Amino acid sequence: MSIVSNLTGTHWPRAIVLTWLKDHVPPPRLQHIVRVEVMASTLAQKHDLDPKKAAQAGLMHDLAKYFQPEQLLQWAKTHQLPLDPVDIANPHLLHAPVSALVAQAEFGICDPEILAAIRDHTLGQPQMSLLSCVVFLADSLEPGRGNRPELNEAREISQQDLYHGVAIACDLTLQHLLKTQQLIHPRMVLTRNWAWLQIQS
Ligand SMILES: [Fe+2]
Ligand SMILES: [Fe+2]
Repeated sequence: MSIVSNLTGTHWPRAIVLTWLKDHVPPPRLQHIVRVEVMASTLAQKHDLDPKKAAQAGLMHDLAKYFQPEQLLQWAKTHQLPLDPVDIANPHLLHAPVSALVAQAEFGICDPEILAAIRDHTLGQPQMSLLSCVVFLADSLEPGRGNRPELNEAREISQQDLYHGVAIACDLTLQHLLKTQQLIHPRMVLTRNWAWLQIQS
């Protein structure tokens, strides 16, 4: 059975989530989401984690990707999410925790591991679970991100060691942010240091 047919066979409202997504994100983003779903499931299997949970988190990781900045800030305020000045300057970063809130509100998802993996898919989080590492990596490294040698190397490393993969993926993101003179959320640095410390200890 292929991975995609395996995903469609799961006993949860995947079709309902897909219908919702079709109304809330454009087709190219939907394709990214499905690639993240597939890669998260595959990577979870590789590391003896729950592929169904990984697929569910992958499918719902970008629910709020196209919410407007004011809408994201409103959700954050209503749910008392901690706000860093970088979140205020760049509310788009809030699409990750808000997607977890939407998964809960719209689809009744209450598994804390799935919700955490959705919440932390962009910035990660020190001490995040291996399932969260899988979804974080699937989002950064799914095939649609391209074929640059450093991405392929990160994909290879992620097959062997999830913490090492997260460390490398964070470095790639930080390098890009520095090069393009963008703000860096402090949590990305915390995640990066945590991941490197995991593989050095
Ligand atoms: Fe995202
Ligand atoms: Fe994404």
